[in-house]
Amino acid sequence: MALVIEQFLCRTDNYCVLIHDPDAGLTASIDAPEEKAIRTKLAEKGWQLDRIFTTHHHQDHVEANLPLKDAYGCTIVGPAEEADKIPGIDDTVKGGDRFAFGGFEVHVIDTPGHTLGHVSYWIPSAAVAFVADTMFAMGCGRVFEGTPEMMWASLDKLRALPDQTVVYCGHEYTEANARFALSVEPDNPDLVARAEQVKRLRAAGKPTLPTTIGLEKRTNPFLRESEPGIRSHIGLMHASPAQVFAELRSRKDAF
Ligand SMILES: [Fe+2]
Repeated sequence: MALVIEQFLCRTDNYCVLIHDPDAGLTASIDAPEEKAIRTKLAEKGWQLDRIFTTHHHQDHVEANLPLKDAYGCTIVGPAEEADKIPGIDDTVKGGDRFAFGGFEVHVIDTPGHTLGHVSYWIPSAAVAFVADTMFAMGCGRVFEGTPEMMWASLDKLRALPDQTVVYCGHEYTEANARFALSVEPDNPDLVARAEQVKRLRAAGKPTLPTTIGLEKRTNPFLRESEPGIRSHIGLMHASPAQVFAELRSRKDAF
């Protein structure tokens, strides 16, 4: 049976995602931003919590680790690089690792930059990836701990996933991201259309995520460094991909 996925808002703009393998009767939470919202969703679905897959150590992704472990006895998986900062961690993972979640194989991708140990979880057989604060719809995470080169390499890895991969991100930042994207690529018709659609969704109080790799490749400026329109807009026609990324990221930081 297919993987069942539930995405819901936590805190103010964090998304939590629960994944459930109905055959194995297993449920995992991607990060643990808020105890109450996660417990409510689990109760609503009638699921136990068996695992937490942590992407990175930021408080708004690990805050509910210990209370949820207490309540459900779940196992917490997270990046080895940040193990000392992830409450309750049981099993560490790193890029290239694969592990079983019921009948699904989870692939770990190292995506450092936002934090030094940030990982993403990809389940190829379900065509889904959980990228937390590395990539957002039409945007990307701030480079807090790593370098722009590091963040660019991480985005480049995500960009290489199959186009149909459904991507779940850590935050609902889409509307602001669309405004920035339009400022650097105003003539991209896919972007213009998506920005309109996002406005309508947000006005109706609806989520703009998940997205797909294919859609991000068409509309996310941080994945479109090779576009002449973007390069000429920021005056970097012959710069390296990482330089273009760094310039876009610093403009977004000040936007
Ligand atoms: Fe974060």
